[in-house]
Formats: sequence, structure tokens, C-alpha cells
Amino acid sequence: MDTVLSGIRSTGNLHLGNYFGAVKNFLKMQEENNCYFFIADYHSLTTYPTPENLHNSVKSVLAEYLATGLDPEKSAIYVQSDVREITELYLLLNMNAYVGELERTTSFKDKVRTQPNNVNAGLLTYPVLMAADILIHRSNKVPVGKDQEQNLEMARKFAKRFNYMYKVDYFPEPQPYNFGENLVKVPGLDGSGKMGKTAGNGIYLIDEDKIIQKKVMRAVTDSGPTEINSPVSEPIKNLFTLMNLVSTADTLDFFKEKYANCEIRYGDLKKQLAEDIIKFVTPIRKNILEIQGDTEYLRKVAKQGAEKAIESASKTVKEVRKIIGFREF
Ligand code: TYM
Repeated sequence: MDTVLSGIRSTGNLHLGNYFGAVKNFLKMQEENNCYFFIADYHSLTTYPTPENLHNSVKSVLAEYLATGLDPEKSAIYVQSDVREITELYLLLNMNAYVGELERTTSFKDKVRTQPNNVNAGLLTYPVLMAADILIHRSNKVPVGKDQEQNLEMARKFAKRFNYMYKVDYFPEPQPYNFGENLVKVPGLDGSGKMGKTAGNGIYLIDEDKIIQKKVMRAVTDSGPTEINSPVSEPIKNLFTLMNLVSTADTLDFFKEKYANCEIRYGDLKKQLAEDIIKFVTPIRKNILEIQGDTEYLRKVAKQGAEKAIESASKTVKEVRKIIGFREF
């Protein structure tokens, strides 16, 4: 049986990018694997949440996980900071992570460019903490969206390096897991790039109908096709990609044909897209609202998940300490 691990940062609510890039696959995976799904609250500290926000975000992501159908009886669902063993493995892996390779990662370079006044060491070693998350359960499969591909590659590098250094075959090299499909990149509504938490271009699972409608109707488009079969611009491609996720194949074909014939009215396309997103999101939102009020249930799930994760994590740390050479007197 495979050990699957994945996480979501507790920076705000879950959006459609998280759902279609990651959670949708978690739901399938929990049926036949040994699964660990967690909420990455240590990682969220690179953005300095207030103590209130830190806790509330963790709580809402937990409720959202459960609302999508993740089953705490089948998978360990836990909060990263409840498993202190992760920080020890993070420290140990940091000793074999080179500053140069960390500086070269795309996400770090992005941060240096976008927030030059706050390039903290947590950002630099972000991939090491992610590797610790993965390797702590000796996971061999990691469902992620396209944006996390490089971080996963770093985790493989650190696993291989550890094995080589200590001449052991201890850590598996974790592979991306997407049922053989390509890793997904769900686009945002602002015409370019992925749907993200910080970009403000996303639709959240908790969004109400009116908000979804407003966001979709405001989505960036272009001035329309000028000739039969003219190439599709990025903002329109993005709307088709979103439609492909939530609408029927017939609906998508209908609008693609309209585009090809230069008969498309973007207002109609958006109206249909908003309607289909609402249809998709509404039952999940209802579940979220029900679950997030049940603090007792959330506490129980987090406790049960942490117990299972700590059991596996402490075994790994004990073995790693032994491999490295820590001995009791
Ligand atoms: P985060 O919280 O940004 O995203 C969580 C998951 O959602 C996927 N995702 C997307 N997939 C497709 N299209 C999008 N627009 C989109 N936006 C987000 C991400 O690929 C991810 O799978 N550092 C991680 C959290 C993390 C983690 C880990 C993940 C910490 N430790 C260990 C896997 C394994 C993060 O910030 O993801």
C-alpha cells in the first residue's frame, strides 16, 4: 500500500484551484492508500498572520477539508504544528540543504522580486520544511498541483542526498500523484496565471452565489474573435478551462463553437460559467457552514489525526536519529 501525503497552507480559505488541483484527488486517494492530509500552519507563518487569524484559518481549512468529503476514519487529517517531530526532521534536513540551491527555486526568486523588504529565512527554507512534511511519513506519493512541482523535486533531492550520505535506503523518492494525468493548473479570473490565495483572483468554496456571480461577471476577457477560428487569447482560454472543470461537455462545446464562429457573447459565457460554478460550490458551502460551527467535532478530528501522524512521525525521527549517529549514553 502506498503512503500518500499532501497539505494545504492555512492562508485563507480553500479556492477552486485547491479543490481541482489537489483535494479532488485526495478524495479518490483516501479509498485505497495510507493517507496523511494536513494543514500547513507553520508554512503560513512566512506571511505573519495575527494569532487570531492563525487559529481561525486552521479551523476553517479543517472544516473545508471535511466538507469536501475527506474522511477522518480513512485518512489522518491533522494540523502540522501538532506534530513537533516535523520540526526536528526539518532541522536535520537543513544541514544538507545548500543555500545556493534554495536561492535558485522559482518560488523563492518570485518572493525576492515581489517582497524585497521581507526575504525571511523561512521563505528560503520553505522547500526543506515541505520535504520534512513529506519524508516524516516516508511517503512515496504526493498529490500536488503544477505550482508545487519544483518543491516536490527538492524533496526527492533531499531524500536521495540523505540516503547517499548515510549509505542507507531509508527515504523513498516521493513521486507526484495525479492518477497518471498531467498536473493541473487552475487559472484565475484576472486573465493570466493561476488561481491563488494572495492574488485575489479566486473563487472560494465558501463564496455565496452573489459573490461568485460578481467575480465571474468581472473576469477579464478580450475584445472578441475577429475572424473564423481565430486563436484564443489567454483570458478566454482560462474561462474555457474553468468551464471544463464545472460544466458539462455539451456546454463547453457549445461556447467553443460560438467562439470559433465569431458568434460568442462573453456575457452569456460568463453567466453560464457562474451558474455552473454555483451549482458545484453550493452543496460544499452548505457542508462547510454546518461543520465549522461544530468545534467539538473539529477538535476530535484534529486530535485523532494528530495521534496517527505523531505515531508515524516519531518512528521516523527515532530511526533517522539512529542513522545519523545520535546515541544514548
Ligand atoms: P497551497 O496551500 O498553495 O496549495 C495547496 C494545494 O493546492 C494546489 N493548488 C493548485 N492546483 C492547481 N491550480 C491552482 N491554481 C492551485 N492553487 C493551489 C497546490 O498545488 C497544492 O497541492 N506549500 C504547499 C503546502 C504544503 C505541502 C506540503 C503540499 C506544505 N507542505 C507537503 C504537499 C506536500 C502550499 O502552499 O500549497
